[in-house]
Amino acid sequence: MGEETLSVRDNRTGEEVEIPISDGTIRATDLRQLGLMSYDPAFLNTASTRSGITYIDGDAGILRYRGYPIEQLAEHASFLETAWLLFEGELPTREQLDAWEEEVRVHTYVHTNVTQFLDGFRHDAHPMGMLLGAIAALSTFYPDAKEIGDAESRRLQRVRLIAKFPTIAAWVFRHSRGLPYVFPRNDLGYIGNFVNMTFEIGGQHEPNPVLQRALEILLVLHADHEQNASTNAVRGVGSTQVDPFSAVSAGVAALYGPLHGGANEQVLRMLDEIGDVKNVPAFIEGVKKHERLLMGFGHRVYKNYDPRAKLIKRVADDVFAQTGVDPKLEIALELERIALEDDYFVSRKLYPNVDFYSGIIYRAMGYPTDYFTVLFALGRLPGWLAQWEEMLSDSEQKIARPRQVYTGYGERDFVPLANR
Ligand code: SDX
Repeated sequence: MGEETLSVRDNRTGEEVEIPISDGTIRATDLRQLGLMSYDPAFLNTASTRSGITYIDGDAGILRYRGYPIEQLAEHASFLETAWLLFEGELPTREQLDAWEEEVRVHTYVHTNVTQFLDGFRHDAHPMGMLLGAIAALSTFYPDAKEIGDAESRRLQRVRLIAKFPTIAAWVFRHSRGLPYVFPRNDLGYIGNFVNMTFEIGGQHEPNPVLQRALEILLVLHADHEQNASTNAVRGVGSTQVDPFSAVSAGVAALYGPLHGGANEQVLRMLDEIGDVKNVPAFIEGVKKHERLLMGFGHRVYKNYDPRAKLIKRVADDVFAQTGVDPKLEIALELERIALEDDYFVSRKLYPNVDFYSGIIYRAMGYPTDYFTVLFALGRLPGWLAQWEEMLSDSEQKIARPRQVYTGYGERDFVPLANR
């Protein structure tokens, strides 16, 4: 079959062009032949890149990292194994994984000056605001990170971020609690170290392997999600060739938003506000009147059940077997039951997303509601870094600089202040 093309005829001029179709897309720049641009606010139907990292089929509810179904990775893979897979494109061998774990282990310390930044925050500062500031500050400690054209430097910064992010995330928690900072221990694994730095009191913390594995599965499930808003931010900021600490801090900032990663916090606030199952019908009616959103529901890509939400519900069973069931779960299950039957939600293809059940689990693990998105960021970090690396290695990518349709005034002359 010949080259697939789209025939475009401009009825204003009668001009007709053949535009090549590849991978189900046309190049927007091909429209220049007709003096046209494409217009797609919020990129509802625009591919910004080719990527081999994560595959989502939103209608079928499929999610794969480098071809591996998320269900299998959640069951069998560690978080560092998943991070390696996202970076390298293949599952690590035993030797590779051992070396990767050891290299991360010896980079977990953070310059103690960072504790002074955290000490400067109010006691009630939002953890995501603190995380955002501290990650951006890391760029000032590693000026070599600016060498983004050097593959080995990029790899070293990836190691530093993967290793130090949990330390900073844990210190953010400690600052919020007014507790002394706990430093990394090299005798603990990646998850165990993070949990110990977070919850140790008086040199003691009794690890719960079931809860630690549950947290690890949640981090695996959050590790990447193709061109979501925060990844788009990391790619866009990274396209200016800034260092990866600054690019990742842009991802943290985007994730903070309640329509994105901040939704897991908003779900818990919503459940607490509803308070009792008997209030669910009235709440749903408010949603249907467009008075508010059903947080944790809906997705730009998934028009089916988010496969991660299904897996997170299963993790909840393991966690609640350890911690006792959060009474708010009953409200969440009733919200889901009603929404999956009600035409308002069914017609809009609104299903639970990754954020709907994760917050209930995080709360059962002992994390405060305003800390949930920090845990999302911890999980998403390998995805941001894998996408950043792919962007820099893609010969088609340039500095991200969209065009616009101008809707403002035509030329006009300045009016002196006395005449206004
Ligand atoms: C994440 O992109 C990713 O991959 C993100 C993520 C990842 O892993 O990176 O999956 C993580 O961010 C998950 C989403 C978390 N956000 C929330 O749970 C917040 C609540 N959800 C909505 O804000 C919304 O569903 C979005 C932002 C997630 C998606 O919004 P879209 O695709 O822009 O859809 P839309 O706003 O155009 O909604 C279409 C219709 C509208 O109704 P009408 O105007 O046509 O009448 O659906 C309605 C919306 O009002 N709608 C909702 C709703 N979500 C959409 N109505 C009630 N409750 C909701 N949650």
